[in-house]
Amino acid sequence: MQDVKLTDTPITDTYPGLNNLVVDFNQMKSFMDDPLVLVEGDGVRVRDHTGQWYIDGLAGVAAVQVGHRNQGIIDAMTAQLNRIALTLPLYAASEPAIALAERLAEITPEPLTHVKFTSGGSEANETAFKLARQFHAQTGNPGKYKIISRYKSYHGATMGALAASGGASRKLPYEPFPTGFVHVLPPDGYRSPFGLDEVESAIRCAELVDHVIVGEGPETVAALIADPVVMSAEGLIAPPIEYFKILREVCDRHNVLLLFDEIITGFGRLGEMFAADVYETCPDIMSVGKGISGGYAALAAVMMTERVASAFWGELGDGVHFNAGHTYSGNPVACAAGLEAVRQIVEGGALDNGRERGQQLRAGMDELMSRYEQIGRVAGIGMLQGVEFVSDRATRSPYPDHNLLCRAVGRTARSNGLIGRMGDHTYVLAPPLTSTAEEIDEMLDILDASIAETLETFEE
Ligand SMILES: Cc1ncc(COP(=O)(O)O)c(C=O)c1O
Repeated sequence: MQDVKLTDTPITDTYPGLNNLVVDFNQMKSFMDDPLVLVEGDGVRVRDHTGQWYIDGLAGVAAVQVGHRNQGIIDAMTAQLNRIALTLPLYAASEPAIALAERLAEITPEPLTHVKFTSGGSEANETAFKLARQFHAQTGNPGKYKIISRYKSYHGATMGALAASGGASRKLPYEPFPTGFVHVLPPDGYRSPFGLDEVESAIRCAELVDHVIVGEGPETVAALIADPVVMSAEGLIAPPIEYFKILREVCDRHNVLLLFDEIITGFGRLGEMFAADVYETCPDIMSVGKGISGGYAALAAVMMTERVASAFWGELGDGVHFNAGHTYSGNPVACAAGLEAVRQIVEGGALDNGRERGQQLRAGMDELMSRYEQIGRVAGIGMLQGVEFVSDRATRSPYPDHNLLCRAVGRTARSNGLIGRMGDHTYVLAPPLTSTAEEIDEMLDILDASIAETLETFEE
C-alpha cells in the first residue's frame, strides 16, 4: 500500500497520531495546514499545545454553559465514577438518570413530563422521529409517517437527522436518504423570497406550512421539526414569536406533532431556559443536548408530553413500548454531570448572568455594525449572536463564494486569541453563560480589531 504522507508540519512530530485522526466536518488536508490541538481549559479560555490561550467564544459548540474545568461538575462526575460508571441499560435505571428525568420535567415547559435519554443530539432527533411515528401508529393513525422540516436547518449527522436537515452541501454526498422527509422554506426574512419584511415573511412561511400539509395529505404527516433558532453554515435565523404560534396552530389543526430541536437553544442559551419559553410555544416533543451536561459528557434527551407518552403505556404483550435504546443513553456519569450543570444554570446564577451578558454581546455587535458597513445585520437571541457580512448593505448581497470575508475575519480572530463560529457569511459567538462582563468586552474588542485588520488587506 502506498504510504500517504499528509503533512510536513512539525505538529506530527509531537502528535504522530494526527495522521490517523479525522476531525469533525474538516477537510483534513487544510486542517493539517493550520492545526489546532487543545490541551486544557479554564473558565472561558482554552489553551493549545503550543501554550497559546484563546477565548472559547463558542463554548465548545454552544455546550460549555458553565465554563471549562468546572470543579462542581468534575466532583459530581468523580463521585459517580467512584460508585458505578455503567448500569445495565437493558434492565436497570440509575439514580442520576432518575433524578435528572425529574429535574428536566420541572424545568421544561409544564406539559413536557417524560424523558428518553440518548447519547447525542442526532440520536435524540432520530428518537423523536421514531416516537412521532409510533405515537400515530398507536393512536389510530398508522398512515402518518412524514416528517416536515426546514431548509437551512441542522438536525444531526445520522441518516434520519441528516435527511431532515437542510443544506445541500452537507447532504449531497450521502444521498439517497430514507423517504418520508418533506422540506419547507425557513423563516429567513433577511432575504425574504416574498419581498416582505422579516415579520411578515416569517408569518407567510408559517402559513405556507398549512398548504404543504394539505398538499401532502394530513393523514400522511406525523410531525414537523424545527430548530427554533438556526445556527448553521448558512447563517443565523431567529424568527419572530408569531412564527411559532402559527406553526403550533397549523400542527394542531392537522394532528401533526410539533417537535422542537433545542439541541443548541436549550439550557439558557437564549436567555431563558428553553426557546419554548422565549417563543411561548410548547412543542409535543423536544430534543435537548449539548448544554444539558455543560459539555462534560455525551448526553442528550427527548422530552415528551403526557399525551405522547401515554401512547406507549400498556401491558407487556401489547408491544406498544418504545422498543429502542443506546448503550450510553442515560449513562449515570453523564447524568451526574447533567444534574450539576442544570443546578449551576438554574440555581447557580448562570441563566441570569447569561441573560445579561447576552444583552451586552448584542449591544456590542450592534455597535460594530454601526462602524463597519461590511456588517449587513446582527442576528440572534441571548448568548447566541452573530454578525453577517455583506458586500453591499443596501442590497444585502452576500460576498461571492470565492472571496469570503467572514472566514478571513474568523481566521484573524483566532490568531488574535478568539475562537468563534465561521459560517459562510456569519460569524457567531455563543460563549459560556458564565462569561464575565470583562470577558465579553474582550471578545468584542478582539472581533473589532480582527475585522479592522482583515479589511486592511481584504480584496473584494
Ligand atoms: C440544532 C442541532 N440539532 C442537532 C444537532 C446534532 O447534535 P450532535 O452533534 O450532538 O449529534 C446539532 C449539533 O450541532 C444541532 O446544532
